[in-house]
Amino acid sequence: MKRTHHCNELRPAQIGQTVTLSGWVHSRRDLGGLIFVDIRDREGRTQCVFDPSHMPNDIFERASSLRSESVVSITGNLRERPEGTRNTKIPTGEVELVATDLEVLNQAEVLPFPVDDPEVASKVNEELRLQYRYLDLRRPEMARNLRLRSKVATATRVFLDEQGFLEVETPLLFKSTPEGAREFLVPSRIHPGQFYALPQSPQQFKQILMVGGVERYFQLARCFRDEDLRADRQPEFTQVDLEMSFIEREDIYSLIEALLKRIWKTALDIDIPTPFKRLSFDEALNRYGIDKPDTRFGMELVDFTSEFKTSTFKVFSGAIANGGVVKALNAKGMAGATQGQIETMTEYAKSFGAKGLAFIKVEAGEWKSPIVKFFSEGEKAALTQKLAIEEGDLILFAADQWLTACEILGRIRLYCAEVLKTQGKLAIPANQFNFLWVIEFPLLSFDKEQNRWYSSHHPFTAPVREDIPLLTSDPKKVRGQHYDIVVNGVELGGGSIRIHQPDVQKTIFEQILQIPPEMVQARFGYMLEAFKYGCPPHGGIALGFDRLIAILCGTSSIRDVIAFPKTAKGTDLMTASPAPVEPKQLRDLHIQLKVAQAEAPAAPRPNA
Ligand code: AMO
Ligand code: AMP
Repeated sequence: MKRTHHCNELRPAQIGQTVTLSGWVHSRRDLGGLIFVDIRDREGRTQCVFDPSHMPNDIFERASSLRSESVVSITGNLRERPEGTRNTKIPTGEVELVATDLEVLNQAEVLPFPVDDPEVASKVNEELRLQYRYLDLRRPEMARNLRLRSKVATATRVFLDEQGFLEVETPLLFKSTPEGAREFLVPSRIHPGQFYALPQSPQQFKQILMVGGVERYFQLARCFRDEDLRADRQPEFTQVDLEMSFIEREDIYSLIEALLKRIWKTALDIDIPTPFKRLSFDEALNRYGIDKPDTRFGMELVDFTSEFKTSTFKVFSGAIANGGVVKALNAKGMAGATQGQIETMTEYAKSFGAKGLAFIKVEAGEWKSPIVKFFSEGEKAALTQKLAIEEGDLILFAADQWLTACEILGRIRLYCAEVLKTQGKLAIPANQFNFLWVIEFPLLSFDKEQNRWYSSHHPFTAPVREDIPLLTSDPKKVRGQHYDIVVNGVELGGGSIRIHQPDVQKTIFEQILQIPPEMVQARFGYMLEAFKYGCPPHGGIALGFDRLIAILCGTSSIRDVIAFPKTAKGTDLMTASPAPVEPKQLRDLHIQLKVAQAEAPAAPRPNA
């Protein structure tokens, strides 16, 4: 029996027709001799009625033994639902199929968790959902997420094609370039003791494509990083990766703004205003304490370094004397925080390097705080004025080196926002999207432990032209031609204008990053060589595609928008991977294990 319609298609106009539907048994109810089966497919559901007086016994018998989620084909005649039985909640709710035939294509066993009730299903433990991901994918929410992902991928391809980009695939079996995150290695069978590495991104290939004259490249690229996983990080993920020749930063800004405009329109029918705001790295840190600020709420950081320079409160004046700063924020409406909550916040701040977290609660017209007694009238007046202090406020301080103080209060700001949200004191509309470019990052950061500079992003980022002379004299001051695109506190993507002169690239590798010349040659020699044979100026960007889809779907976990994600421990619970391998496979790869294989390869699971 071949389907004639999908399960969200039938309306009163088709009443009287004979139709066949195929799909899953969403629910079955036995009522007074009649059996009602809701059949569901990807598009929706339709109610079918089995009436023993209208059909042979064996068909009715089959209907009465149907289990939830079995796959069936049902043929019948479409009729109007009797008065009082219409369901206004579903588009097919005015009609029902009076079954004349039923074919059971696959009888389902009792499921490990229910999928018909979204309320119940969404509360099922995530590990169980990942183990039975195929069942989880039937939930309307997951089905919607995958559909949206596909739609956005298509819109992206169409847009970039219109803009003259070529989609080019780059290798997944790449070479180890241990500069960024830890890599996944793939042993070579043919070359004993040698390894491929899975790419962290197509960065080097896309730059080489520019040398190859491609001019505009893009790829929905799979990337692999062996990092500690979080809700917004997976070991394998997808980037909308692109690179262009003969461009400047402004060209990337306008291209990405137009792309995101198209995507938001396609996915959510929302017109996002462009151009996006721009914030320098310094300003982002100064005002929000983070390089990916969520600007949907205020609670900005305020600087009090000049006010407390000569304060009798030594914690503050001492930090300033040490070259540090004093910053504060006003968590409006949080004066009611208990001692326990303040302690929790202090511990949290300490986990980011804070030495303490001074505070003032403004309650019953009084400033309640162990430190107020040290403040002069002038200091109090400055606080009141610059922080707009009112009854009910909680003021929090960080006194430390600039970056540390900013970062501590940045975390505290987000923490307070979460508390205020749960208390209903901070409401953020679901469809508010605050995009912004964060620019003018420092090209280099200093690693105190290793006593050396490293690239803030990657070593291919070009310095801002007028800062090039500072590279050897004052590296800290060199700004990179890097940009991040941020939305609602999420780093959606990043990129840069690249170095295209081999001598500048060599200086960065050897003099600044202090990679020995022979190692530079071994790792990046082919790039430096390529740059000698006609390299156009170029630049690009990569958007985290999973993060992009998660934002569009309104979920905080990218696992919800990836068909088969890994757990926080990097395992795939459905296929039970990673897993031991046969000794012969190891021998072929010239690999000897230092650990005993924990267990023999798992016996194939029933669902494998
Ligand atoms: P970057 O490392 O900033 O840049 O990555 C770009 C974007 O990819 C997303 N992303 C991730 N998403 C999910 N899981 C992960 N583990 C993960 N890591 C990164 C983020 C991030 O902003 N080659 C450069 C781009 C360029 O310079 O053109 C690069 O990979 O959204
Ligand atoms: P103390 O004099 O060390 O007892 O600190 C007094 C108050 O200042 C306490 O609430 C500490 O948490 C806080 N405090 C101490 N050091 C700092 C700092 N570097 N920045 C902000 N607050 C601090």
